[in-house]
Amino acid sequence: MRVDRFLSNLPRFNRQQVRLLLVERRVRIDGQIVNDPRAHVREFSRVEVDDEVLQAGRPARYFMLHKPPGCVSATRDPQHRTVLDLLDEPDKDDLHIAGRLDFNTTGLMLITNDGSWSRRLTQPQTKLPKIYYVETEQTITAEYAVTFAQGLYFAFEDLTTQPAELTLLGPTSARLSIVEGRYHQVKRMFGHFNNKVLRLHRERMGPLVLDAHLEPGGYRALGAEEICLI
Ligand code: URA
Repeated sequence: MRVDRFLSNLPRFNRQQVRLLLVERRVRIDGQIVNDPRAHVREFSRVEVDDEVLQAGRPARYFMLHKPPGCVSATRDPQHRTVLDLLDEPDKDDLHIAGRLDFNTTGLMLITNDGSWSRRLTQPQTKLPKIYYVETEQTITAEYAVTFAQGLYFAFEDLTTQPAELTLLGPTSARLSIVEGRYHQVKRMFGHFNNKVLRLHRERMGPLVLDAHLEPGGYRALGAEEICLI
């Protein structure tokens, strides 16, 4: 949000006062004086006027986790361990999951406290491909790829899924690329053919690939260059 809007949204400053504060160079974002009303205040910015802190600022955090099977994609669960239980980090209440996986689905899970970053990653509009390795009970035929590319109608949500790309790897294994993350989407797509998904593993979300060095249950912080990709 622009700094002039951020300040005038506070009950104590009107627009005229905000203009003056900026001209008088009394506003600081992350320690730097700003006088441009278009300067950006982000979720994690520290904002000060004179010596008063209006927004404390906090570090943005980003993690990549190799989700093991038998673990819930939620921040809390009364019965099962959650993906957050696998993180040995402070202030876990501040973190959320960018793109959930089912209880027994494995693979790449991204966890952050940056809401706009996770929205960019998961919103269907940004069309970032999510790549899954799939193993099924029955044979996967060539017809599947055609149907998935056309989109499938999901009556519950009253929508047609966006075109998805299927690459056959073997009689009962394939790689599937989808750009959205509807509830149980992959299982429902194969369910259209009455074919049960036996193994599901997320390999990639957009440009971020699951680190081959991470064992199931392992995690690491993302590097600055990875965070900037989203
Ligand atoms: N689609 C599913 O059906 N399950 C997942 O965990 C992810 C995508």
